Amino acid sequence: MQRTFEIDPWKIVTHKLDKANKRLQESMTSIGNGYMGMRGMFEEDYSADTHSGIYIGGVWFPDKTVVGWWKNGYPKYFGKVINAVNFDKVNVWLNDQKLDLATTPIKDFELSLDMKTGILTRQFTVDNQETQVRFTIQRFVSVAQKQLFDVSYQVENLGSQPVTIRIVSEINADVSNEDANYDEKFWNVKTKAQTTDSGYLIAETKPNDFGTPQFTVGTQMTHQTDLKAVQTAETEKNVVNTFEGTLANQESSQFEKRVIVVTSRDYDDDATLKAGMEVLSQKVAAQTHQQLVTEQSVEWAKRWAKADVQISGDDAAQQGIRFNLFQLFSTFYGEDKRLNIGPKGFTGEKYGGATYWDTEGFALPLYLSLADQKVSENLLEYRHNQLAGAFHNAREQGLKGALYPMVTFNGIENHNEWEITFEEIHRNGTIAYAIYNYTRYTGDETYLKTKGIDVLTAISRFWADRVHWSKRKGVYMIHGVTGPNEYENNVNNNWYTNLLAQWTLKYTLESLKKVSDKKIADLAISKEEEAQWQDIIHKMYLPEDKKLGIFVQNDCFLDKDLQPVTSIPKDQLPINQHWSWDKILRSPYIKQADVLQGIWYFIDKFPEDVKKRNFDFYEPLTVHESSLSACVHAILAADLRYEQKAVEMYERTARLDLDNYNNDTVDGLHITSMTGSWLAIVQGFAGMRVSGDQLSFKPFLPKKWTAYQFRINFRGRLIEVRVDTTGTKINLLKGQPLKVQLNQEVVALKGGD
Ligand code: BGC
Repeated sequence: MQRTFEIDPWKIVTHKLDKANKRLQESMTSIGNGYMGMRGMFEEDYSADTHSGIYIGGVWFPDKTVVGWWKNGYPKYFGKVINAVNFDKVNVWLNDQKLDLATTPIKDFELSLDMKTGILTRQFTVDNQETQVRFTIQRFVSVAQKQLFDVSYQVENLGSQPVTIRIVSEINADVSNEDANYDEKFWNVKTKAQTTDSGYLIAETKPNDFGTPQFTVGTQMTHQTDLKAVQTAETEKNVVNTFEGTLANQESSQFEKRVIVVTSRDYDDDATLKAGMEVLSQKVAAQTHQQLVTEQSVEWAKRWAKADVQISGDDAAQQGIRFNLFQLFSTFYGEDKRLNIGPKGFTGEKYGGATYWDTEGFALPLYLSLADQKVSENLLEYRHNQLAGAFHNAREQGLKGALYPMVTFNGIENHNEWEITFEEIHRNGTIAYAIYNYTRYTGDETYLKTKGIDVLTAISRFWADRVHWSKRKGVYMIHGVTGPNEYENNVNNNWYTNLLAQWTLKYTLESLKKVSDKKIADLAISKEEEAQWQDIIHKMYLPEDKKLGIFVQNDCFLDKDLQPVTSIPKDQLPINQHWSWDKILRSPYIKQADVLQGIWYFIDKFPEDVKKRNFDFYEPLTVHESSLSACVHAILAADLRYEQKAVEMYERTARLDLDNYNNDTVDGLHITSMTGSWLAIVQGFAGMRVSGDQLSFKPFLPKKWTAYQFRINFRGRLIEVRVDTTGTKINLLKGQPLKVQLNQEVVALKGGD
């Protein structure tokens, strides 16, 4: 655990420029607006370790798959969101000394991300013998005007001598990704131009060999300042504007850079893109800085009014949940249905900004409750639109039906480790489960009947082909898989995968009864096929140990040397940073919920004693080295009334990045698992469930807290739940009356209750 920011309910704030942990600070101070986002690197050059990263949603590049031993079925490319043309760059000279916070002496440093408004503020005083200059730098990506990035400098001379100041602002296409093969650069400049105080640059991603689209990005900068613009030479890959002035004692200057970013995702050709960029630039030119800031604050206030979770009595927990909601909404707020939620969002390059099963498994339940129904439907449609890619993936494995990818931008699998690409097929089950989850929560079967059924049928066909019949045991089995626990590969009969395969077939058959005859005809499902699915459902092998009373993670799991995690010396954790892969694979340690993931999905279908035995058996073997782990355990622990464990797991998921639990936040934030803290509170502590039409709660109040309160959308209603030392209050804020179950009692909410 490593805490580098102070505890504050609404801010991510530090008074230390932590040079040794600069990347960590940058990850934590990332900002975004769903359309684009950036790490918290400084605008000015920084000569020590830093990771500058700006990413634009849906702008990616297919990088050639490079592996030692090519195996048939590998995807040809690995897609990645690329580091965008750098448009935040601003360099500052004071009396001809370049500001570089790695070396320039400073005092009174403060770095503060205000989660109420999404504005990142940096303050410091340059402090050397002849110069004392105070800087206040603020930046935001606008949630009101998604193409706008704004950075402003207020510079005040606190010293007794005049100071000359030069500010150089640029847009630079000479950038690369940290993880690129051979330091490759992905951008070619198409056209650019500058005046003394503005400039634009239009760049295009390099051509690729895989037939995926090239992207064009236009960036235009304008400036508002009391400094004087002077002529500057541009270079081949940048446009640059310089501003100069002299600050007398106590005098200050303002400098603001506004950047408009547009892409070929929204414009048909370069001419319309350039025109669009200019129109947007002019639009923001008509607004004052204060107006831009106000509209930013207003939009964030609207989001918080719908989604804020209030915790009393524990500021660390409060900060954790707000940070997670803030970063999630900065990554995705559902406006663009072509986009999805990358595990690191716009905060780093790991996982390439691609879509994972994380979205359906972990993010969808949160968006169901906190955003309009359309947002969740869009997330499901994203997969429906990528069905062709999923068919392709299954074909590549020599299988029928659809195999949804582990990692993707367009439906085509992008991952190139055989134990994941070929084997981590449980992801297909979660894509099906999401359709069930959506339908159950919204009570709306339209998507299921029109589009969901296409996806379910295609996935079922995959499972029906992927199982095999064991003559010896007279059951269907699934061999050669990796379960959610990636610390075991190529195992046979992963209980969770087999369960999801069986469940998908069952759910698809049930759903087929609801769809139109025309749909059935289009899907061309024969009686024989249905009979085959029924047979698999009835004879699917689900490993169980009767003596222990548990489901068995896979065929060989119980033969391992089953020592609990507490037997691992502390200095060897996390094991993925200390042990060889071979040692990890042979160990009994579980990276993330596996059997327990399945129990969570169907939490009300398993009797209490079964849940308890499985939790008691698997949790002590779990190292939680995937960020997706803790929340599942928090929910199950809460369900079993293991309150202390539930709170411990909540703290881990809520402050995973803030306290750098897994020692990897330098790479970026764990965006998709940020839903975990919300799930832990709402499904865990408050015990929210939906069964049929019945919404129910079974709340408890963690001992450290004096109250918590949250709001959810449910079938056209807005409901507020407050749990405090006096009990639970459920308030219908908007919408038609509703019956809600609270513990054992069904209560009628009429509004204002
Ligand atoms: C987890 C996967 C997850 C991926 C992206 C991995 O560490 O094991 O389940 O999909 O991270 O979050």
